[in-house]
Amino acid sequence: MKDKTIAICPGSFDPVTCGHLDIINRAAKMFDKLIVLVAGNASKSCSFTPVERVEMIKKCVSDLENVTVEHYDGLLADYAAKVGATAIIKGLRAMSDFEYEFQMALTNKKLNPNVETLFLTTSTENMYLSSSMVKQIAMMGGDISSFVPEVIKQDILSRIS
Ligand code: PNS
Repeated sequence: MKDKTIAICPGSFDPVTCGHLDIINRAAKMFDKLIVLVAGNASKSCSFTPVERVEMIKKCVSDLENVTVEHYDGLLADYAAKVGATAIIKGLRAMSDFEYEFQMALTNKKLNPNVETLFLTTSTENMYLSSSMVKQIAMMGGDISSFVPEVIKQDILSRIS
């Protein structure tokens, strides 16, 4: 019998946006199991705790049966080995994402040769959407309705605005 295909969609998700969810929905169709992983990024200081980020994502993916949401503090390559994942899924927006993502993909491949990084191109409407943009709009009293799902809007506004 064929092994189940497991992929990881990692990120800071501080907070998750409609752009992330578009990638998660599309990736969920490509694998038997998709783990959305809230992971640490040493160069970012986050507004939400890992537990809060996991909870917000869970609210947004409750209709996706093959998707689970986890948090991990160590290396992504180690986590992939631990759960037997064969793919890391990342969304690519503009060219500006490319160098950073390429560097991470090559590093992860070196650390764990059994895992491939696959890039999904963002949908055009999410091209310039980012978590930091959402936080900036919320902070200045703007409307974030078209950037994050309704189900987490209040969680974000309560913290940020
Ligand atoms: O949403 P982000 O901040 O661009 O995601 C980056 C993230 C969290 C996927 C990356 O920093 C990561 O993989 N962190 C886990 C620790 C790790 O493995 N670091 C080395 C990456 S080459």
